Amino acid sequence: MTLVLIGPPASGKSRIGKRLARTLGVAFVDTDKLIIEKHGPIPDIFATHGEPHFRSIERAEVVRALRSDAVVSFGGGAVLDPDTQHDLADHAVVLLTVEPHAVIARLGNGRRPLVPDIDAWIALYEKRRALYERLADHTVDTSDRPTEEIAAEIADWA
Ligand code: S3P
Repeated sequence: MTLVLIGPPASGKSRIGKRLARTLGVAFVDTDKLIIEKHGPIPDIFATHGEPHFRSIERAEVVRALRSDAVVSFGGGAVLDPDTQHDLADHAVVLLTVEPHAVIARLGNGRRPLVPDIDAWIALYEKRRALYERLADHTVDTSDRPTEEIAAEIADWA
């Protein structure tokens, strides 16, 4: 089974994905991590090669990740690719949402070039919200809730 976590940056996809994979007894795959392992830090990729290049290497890692029997956590923008949108129809897709107040503490580490601050995060989320909602089979809000509780809720649904 492949269960895919989508959602905006800082919605907890990696943290919750790891816990969920343990609960379900399957592997955990994080597309951002696969990219970093092969190509180095994400801000450097954006700065040196630009977003289109990042999206094409991201697409390659998405294809690889969707072949695995795992919980797969996507980078927030991985769903922008039309081929990825098409591929997701064959998988269980969970959207993680989060309120801005809960995001503030998670930003500011310089690891997310597209969301330097909360205003940028809100703008990016608003632009993508309808797409995230269209692709999701199930939605869970992660604001102010323990990782374990959220993972258990998703595992019950899956
Ligand atoms: C991005 C989200 C990031 C990372 C890259 C682009 C986006 O992942 O893939 O900085 O476009 O939303 P997270 O969602 O894990 O922060």
